[in-house]
Amino acid sequence: MAAIRAEGLYKVFGRRPDDVVRQLSEGASTDEVVAQGATPAVIDAGFEVQPGEIFVVMGLSGSGKSTLIRMLNGLLSPTSGHVHVGGRDVAELGPKSLRQLRSEEMSMVFQHFALLPHRTVLENAAYALKIRGFEKQERDSKARDALTLVGLSGWEHRYPSQLSGGMKQRVGLARALAAETDILLMDEAFSALDPLIRREMQDQLIDLQHRLTKTIVFITHDLNEAMRLGDRIAMMRAGRIVQIGTREDILYDPADDYVAEFVKDVDRTRVLTAGSVMEPVSDQASQAEYTTVSADTLLSDVFAMTDRRPLPLAVIDGDNRTVGVIREHTLLHAMVARDAARKQDAEPTRVEGQEASHG
Ligand SMILES: Nc1ncnc2c1ncn2[C@@H]1O[C@H](COP(=O)(O)OP(=O)(O)O)[C@@H](O)[C@H]1O
Ligand SMILES: [Mg+2]
Repeated sequence: MAAIRAEGLYKVFGRRPDDVVRQLSEGASTDEVVAQGATPAVIDAGFEVQPGEIFVVMGLSGSGKSTLIRMLNGLLSPTSGHVHVGGRDVAELGPKSLRQLRSEEMSMVFQHFALLPHRTVLENAAYALKIRGFEKQERDSKARDALTLVGLSGWEHRYPSQLSGGMKQRVGLARALAAETDILLMDEAFSALDPLIRREMQDQLIDLQHRLTKTIVFITHDLNEAMRLGDRIAMMRAGRIVQIGTREDILYDPADDYVAEFVKDVDRTRVLTAGSVMEPVSDQASQAEYTTVSADTLLSDVFAMTDRRPLPLAVIDGDNRTVGVIREHTLLHAMVARDAARKQDAEPTRVEGQEASHG
């Protein structure tokens, strides 16, 4: 069963929201309803988030990401449509069950940390547990564990003002982890951080996810971040989800020009891996003399290797089995704008246009 399921989800701010939903569902354009004074923040969103998955929602500022994530935990109620968490319809929960949902099943990490300035790091990390009525000893112990997970042990008795931005966000993350919810909702959690720190936080989240396997909905306006973190990515534009797919789906097969425009700025070598670009092989014996590279190696590292090692490279899986091979043309194919071979069957004319603009 999906951890989260959204179905026909709409949120319209402004006048006569129900009527606006009806118009939109009957095909009215966004411009038409905006002209009536309505703000359709989320339009007909539908998706499932699987347990243990990092599901990224990516879109420009104002595209409806925060509105969407707030409907997942009931902070906002949909104008129309449904959100199911663990099989229950969030709209049907009473106030008490809703509070319970937010404290025991889903934690939220915000962009601006939301730390209490006059509480210590430990008290901040334990705060959600205090609200829930945990005894001091137990909540401190859980909070210490969470602070250790995010690399902040030793900082328990400092105050937020003594921390850097990255460390403050680690406290925010520790607070969410201390609550031991299966689901984490992260709304632009790293967007306020400097690029270098931001990278570190992404690495740390990936590392934590390997150990804890949470269900994570992660919102960002940065496609590079989306590509690094997302098992799947939902691309949002003006309230609508225009594409949901893996990083390879988005890179090689953007659903429209909006997505294609974002894809242009992505550093593919830091997104694609040896395993995602290799040519699969079944004949293992013939690979014996090749230099090996593990399937999860980023292409940037593969390129660095090719300075010193001759191609082809043999790609191995976690069990040391050869699963593919990387030749010079494999790398070239990986770097072109679209995977022509995959695309050609579906939309030959569009592929030609794309190639021309890059040639
Ligand atoms: N409480 C609100 N009242 C009216 N309009 C809102 C409200 N919250 C968000 N909006 C509008 O909904 C749209 C989507 O906003 P938001 O979900 O915050 O986008 P994002 O998080 O992608 O930047 C924007 O046009 C925003 O101005
Ligand atoms: Mg937002």
